[in-house]
Amino acid sequence: MHQVVLIPGDGIGPEITESVKAVFKAADVKMNWLDASAGMAGVDLCGDPLPEETLDLIKLYKVALKGPLTTPVGGGYRSVNVTLRKMFDLYCNIRPAFSIAAVPTPFTTVDMVMFRENTQGLYIGQEKWLNEEQTIAESKAVISREASEKIIRAAFEYAKLHNRKKVTLVHKANILKLTTGLFLQVGKEMAVLYPEIQFEDLIVDNMAMQMVIKPHRFDVVVTTNLFGDILSDLASGLVGGLGVTGSANIGTDYAIFEAVHGSAPDIAGQGKANPTAFLFSACMMLDYLGDAEKAEKIRQAILKALENKSVCTGDIGGKGTTSTFTGEVCRLMVNGK
Ligand SMILES: NC(=O)c1ccc[n+]([C@@H]2O[C@H](COP(=O)([O-])OP(=O)(O)OC[C@H]3O[C@@H](n4cnc5c(N)ncnc54)[C@H](O)[C@@H]3O)[C@@H](O)[C@H]2O)c1
Repeated sequence: MHQVVLIPGDGIGPEITESVKAVFKAADVKMNWLDASAGMAGVDLCGDPLPEETLDLIKLYKVALKGPLTTPVGGGYRSVNVTLRKMFDLYCNIRPAFSIAAVPTPFTTVDMVMFRENTQGLYIGQEKWLNEEQTIAESKAVISREASEKIIRAAFEYAKLHNRKKVTLVHKANILKLTTGLFLQVGKEMAVLYPEIQFEDLIVDNMAMQMVIKPHRFDVVVTTNLFGDILSDLASGLVGGLGVTGSANIGTDYAIFEAVHGSAPDIAGQGKANPTAFLFSACMMLDYLGDAEKAEKIRQAILKALENKSVCTGDIGGKGTTSTFTGEVCRLMVNGK
């Protein structure tokens, strides 16, 4: 029996969480969900976006599946996502993006896995005003050799384990010579230890253009926090949007799985949320928990369900809802066809 902390989150979070619970049940995954809250849901429940009880549960059970959390823009509380990643040292954010035959996109040959450093860069939250009038602001970025080594090693090890051929390191070392320059330097040193894997480095602006023009040339990609955040959304866009890309936040002792997308307030509560991304994240969690066979069965059912446009959600050209898609995946899990 797996024991996993379940945080439904905000906006479309509760809808896609119900989808995962239903599919896991249909797939007969032995799971004990430990309910917890965070984000606006935490504020509503107990006045805290990151309640102590939620932290205690993650400390105890070490693995969580988390729906998207709304972060106030400008003022308000600090991002709970960023806090969790830092607090549990979830240094490795893995975001696969691959073309799915049934999902309409002009980019049919994408198959890349992005490794985003998840704890440093511009996300350390050190910002301040430089004058009393508050007309000049400063933001600090920190990149350490240790954190760079951990994420870059994770990317190479993943490439080796999954028989991937190439690692592309993305940086801006022509301008940010110390911070991303250090990241690039560590990448070059690490590449020597993996002679069987091709290594290249690209400046981030060129990378953004190349991803659109020749996305098939990318395999495993490793980059710093902000670049990875932006480029992984771009990768999602290439393969049909945020509704179809899962992600994992993994550290040495803890792991939190979530979709790439946010709480999508524009479609919350309307049955329009595509649960595919969150289901893929949940499959990554099953892989992590050592239940790869179940994960693969669920993935196959999702891919099959995506072929039936009458049940798919509107973001990928379907005519269905969150629950019609979920129902079809469950039916396929039980009936097999
Ligand atoms: N990991 C996280 O919890 C996370 C990640 C990103 C953004 N956020 C937060 O989410 C909130 C909204 O952010 P945003 O609007 O910039 O990004 P978003 O990802 O929530 O939405 C962007 C667009 O994609 C669509 N979309 C997203 N997920 C979808 C799905 N599963 N199915 C169909 N369409 C989907 C939305 O309707 C919207 O049009 C903000 O508070 C932001 O801070 C949280």
